[in-house]
Amino acid sequence: MHIRKVKQSDFDQILEISDQGYEEARLNPDFGDYVKLKKPDKRRKAEWTAYMLKHIGARDMLFYVAEDKGVIIGYCFVMKKDIPDSEMSHVGVLAIRVAKDWRGRGVGTKLLGYAIKDSRKKFEIIEIFPFATNERSKRLYRRFGFKTWGLAPGYIKRGERYIDLEYMYLRIK
Ligand SMILES: CC(C)(COP(=O)(O)OP(=O)(O)OC[C@H]1O[C@@H](n2cnc3c(N)ncnc32)[C@H](O)[C@@H]1OP(=O)(O)O)[C@@H](O)C(=O)NCCC(=O)NCCS
Repeated sequence: MHIRKVKQSDFDQILEISDQGYEEARLNPDFGDYVKLKKPDKRRKAEWTAYMLKHIGARDMLFYVAEDKGVIIGYCFVMKKDIPDSEMSHVGVLAIRVAKDWRGRGVGTKLLGYAIKDSRKKFEIIEIFPFATNERSKRLYRRFGFKTWGLAPGYIKRGERYIDLEYMYLRIK
């Protein structure tokens, strides 16, 4: 398994991993990442891919994948907080997802380590917003030095249930 920068041809597999989250959130109320209310169709996926490629090309976003034997098994991106540039553009917002069958095997650790190191050339602060209930992901972020700076109560509404969102940050410069 290795980590590398994303290529355009990776996006179909990235979207497959993203899609797994819809089923997971449906089956497991504690699934710790948020999803859109409607699973994106082919057109929406093409729009999302074009949007991401545009921002990667414009260097507003750093995007990494974990690959094993030619298969994408996880991804992570850090996107500039505010576009066009503003007084918040030294902040990058991080998102990470590892394919279900690969979790707990060090993929997230490797992706995050790579992303944090590479982000130093672009950002001064990285922030991430895990569900407050997502102990596993929070443990991972804390291992890298992320600190909690706040809590947004009831920020996620999953069915009838409200879940708090935790705000975490890491100063990298
Ligand atoms: C959160 C997430 C990105 C973490 O990625 P991951 O690949 O599972 O993370 P890692 O395997 O590197 O680390 C998780 C645990 O596995 C352990 N681990 C690391 N390498 C390992 C290995 N080779 N074998 C077994 N366990 C290992 C770590 O020590 C860590 O243990 P801990 O939870 O007790 O601290 C991933 O679980 C995921 O995508 N979850 C669903 C979506 C989600 O919650 N995303 C985050 C939104 S904020």
